[in-house]
Amino acid sequence: MLHTTAILSALAEEQHGLLAALRQPRRMERAGREFWLGELQGRNVVLALSKIGKVAAATTATTLIERFAVRRIVFTGVAGGLARGVQVGDVVLGTEYLQHDMDASPLFPRHEIPLYGRKRFQADASLLATLSGAARAFLERSAAISPSQTSMPRQLHQGLIASGDRFMGEHAPTQALRSELPDALCVEMEGAAVAQVCFDYGVPFCAVRTISDRADDDAHVDFSQFIRSVAGPYAVGIVTEFMRRLDG
Ligand code: ADE
Repeated sequence: MLHTTAILSALAEEQHGLLAALRQPRRMERAGREFWLGELQGRNVVLALSKIGKVAAATTATTLIERFAVRRIVFTGVAGGLARGVQVGDVVLGTEYLQHDMDASPLFPRHEIPLYGRKRFQADASLLATLSGAARAFLERSAAISPSQTSMPRQLHQGLIASGDRFMGEHAPTQALRSELPDALCVEMEGAAVAQVCFDYGVPFCAVRTISDRADDDAHVDFSQFIRSVAGPYAVGIVTEFMRRLDG
């Protein structure tokens, strides 16, 4: 079990392909969750579903660390694009994570995590570098294999990911979030919670998100279909390449 890498996904559709690729799969249950142990690219992994939202994701991350002694956690999933130029089909790597619905003002500044003295958690630098290389290689390969699939090459972005217990699917609140956090690349519902747990335990963390929508009034359209046909295969491609490149 030593040196186990945890791959966390929010939804079953996102995990589906990874599970299919898992060698010597072994299923375990804990905290009402399924954990799949096995090998990807000859390396030990645990696959888990975070479920949706910050508390569910934090519980899953804590279980991975406490019960499975994982050495690092990678989150794969989808997100809504916030920054200009972060388009559907693009991939975002989080260098920093912030909980956009954290507000204990006036006791603490807006977005500051009470008693942590910080608003943002950082991705682990070495994990980020490996994931970045893997994502870039995957995107280049998939563009070469099927150039006609998209009119624009899919972009890889790196920067701030905002997380909160709200699906952003309406224009006005999303615009407010954009003005409040102009450097946020995308929004989702788990990353910053997992980042906080990993910070507490000193476990390296990084999240990779495929943009499924622009967090506007059309955000819900074809969401499941997108996850099945695009985000799932992206997760498999990027994680497989990542596992190949891992040392240690
Ligand atoms: N995950 C994917 N799209 C999202 C959105 N628009 N808001 C929150 N989480 C998301």
